[in-house]
Amino acid sequence: MSLRYAWLSDVPEHAQQLSDWHVAEWSPLIPGFNVPAMLQEFATHDGGLKIPTTLVALEDGSLLGSISLLENDHDDIRAYSPWLASLYVREDQRGRGLGIALVRRCEDMARRLGIGRLYLYTAGQERFYRKLGWEEVATVSLRGLCATVMAIVPRPLPDA
Ligand SMILES: CC(C)(COP(=O)(O)OP(=O)(O)OC[C@H]1O[C@@H](n2cnc3c(N)ncnc32)[C@H](O)[C@@H]1OP(=O)(O)O)[C@@H](O)C(=O)NCCC(=O)NCCS
Repeated sequence: MSLRYAWLSDVPEHAQQLSDWHVAEWSPLIPGFNVPAMLQEFATHDGGLKIPTTLVALEDGSLLGSISLLENDHDDIRAYSPWLASLYVREDQRGRGLGIALVRRCEDMARRLGIGRLYLYTAGQERFYRKLGWEEVATVSLRGLCATVMAIVPRPLPDA
């Protein structure tokens, strides 16, 4: 089995599946977030190493997960930018290191784009990101839900 990473723009046949997963996971958090809106947004992630972009993990042609790099990630948090966003690993693939690998690849992408500080927000996965070296910079209320903004100085991949 061979694990590989690709820009979503190079494998657009996976955009529908990814949109279904993302909407099932995050629509309760984001007003107006639905599959057509997600597909429309993914269509703008069209050029590889740029913002916005989405990287996917694939194994034998099967979609395992994704991560995005965005200018803005939520209308209610505009004080920070850019963002690591939409980290998602397929349920049956969790716990094998893919989440960490995607975060590290996103950091590497940001570093190659000259980004000095990268942000994310999370409501529940703070411990996961803390283990990876991310630091909490603020607590925000997203329509009643408490979320944490975290930041890091993006690092290159260890073998880069
Ligand atoms: C969060 C998520 C991306 C983790 O992906 P994953 O592939 O299972 O993560 P990994 O296998 O790389 O985990 C690596 C390490 O983090 C730990 N870990 C995973 N999820 C964790 C969590 N929620 N809290 C603390 N530690 C966590 C693992 O136990 C593992 O630790 P170890 O190396 O000491 O054994 C995945 O659970 C997911 O897609 N969840 C739904 C979407 C989501 O919440 N995304 C994040 C939005 S902010």
